[in-house]
Amino acid sequence: MNDNDTEGSPAGPGPLPRRRTDRTARLQLTKDQAGQALELAQWCATDLDEHRLLNELPVLAHELPREIRTFVNEARLDPLGHVIMLSGNQIDQDVLGATPESWRVADTPASRAYGVLLMLYGALLGDPIGWATQQSGRLVTDVLPSRGAEYSLISASSSLELAWHTEDAHSPYRADWVGLFALRNQASVPTTISFVEHSDVPADIARILAEPRFVFEPDASHEFDGDRPEPAPVPVLTGGPGAPVLRADRDFVRAVDGDPEARQALDWVIGHLDANLYDVTLEEGDVAFVDNRNVVHGRRPFQAAFNGSDRWLKRVNVARDLRRIDAGTRRGATCVIV
Ligand SMILES: [Fe+2]
Repeated sequence: MNDNDTEGSPAGPGPLPRRRTDRTARLQLTKDQAGQALELAQWCATDLDEHRLLNELPVLAHELPREIRTFVNEARLDPLGHVIMLSGNQIDQDVLGATPESWRVADTPASRAYGVLLMLYGALLGDPIGWATQQSGRLVTDVLPSRGAEYSLISASSSLELAWHTEDAHSPYRADWVGLFALRNQASVPTTISFVEHSDVPADIARILAEPRFVFEPDASHEFDGDRPEPAPVPVLTGGPGAPVLRADRDFVRAVDGDPEARQALDWVIGHLDANLYDVTLEEGDVAFVDNRNVVHGRRPFQAAFNGSDRWLKRVNVARDLRRIDAGTRRGATCVIV
């Protein structure tokens, strides 16, 4: 919890209690737990063929230390949770090598076991999904700064803040959790998180946000061979205070044309999410699963060095229920969405 969390503070004179914001469930792995988890991932990465790995991921994840499985299970049952964090994973920086220049060359043999470990942790929450239109359909993708993309609107940016967003907000098949594994983050570049405080939403705004009056364009990380799909209007906020479903993207959402009421409601929620934005820094060895239904996420700006020392994350999208996705190619307990 961060210093905004004053739950449980005694009543009485003094400053007004501040709102509880950071709902991160965090487990600090012991050296033994981290070692066992990495050993399992290394064995999966070197001894199993891909077919078996993708088929048996949820079963292989049973071999992770029990404390990790118990913790993730408890955390996933919090309907208002923001982030599930597993800290203290071991990274051998000497073996890992330099941060690659682009995602295209980032699926390195030395980093593969970390991607598998991220998938194993993710299998405690659901099944990994990928996108045929993103990073060549890889299930484990890479987040690192690319030269020339410093001011772009995607995660390869650096000098520009990556604005808060629901991962793949344009699609009904978007993930329930986004898993991020910090292999390197020497500059402690913060990830950002924001959320809707339901009790703050005026009733008329809530009613409009729950109606299909908003259009999401796919972000620029998706590369389409032909025409981009024509987005249909969808709601921004559904599900109610006990089980919210937030769908928002600061750069890629607009109200439908000719609907000033929707535009006003959208402006309200954008201001609200801006105001609630807070930092969660993924340090080296941190694995974070961001709840893609409850919160939006982004990244603060930073100065990329492009010398092999820059921030490098592995990323995996996790779906709780593969059966809700009917537009992809199944490979074992995974799916690549077309
Ligand atoms: Fe993202």
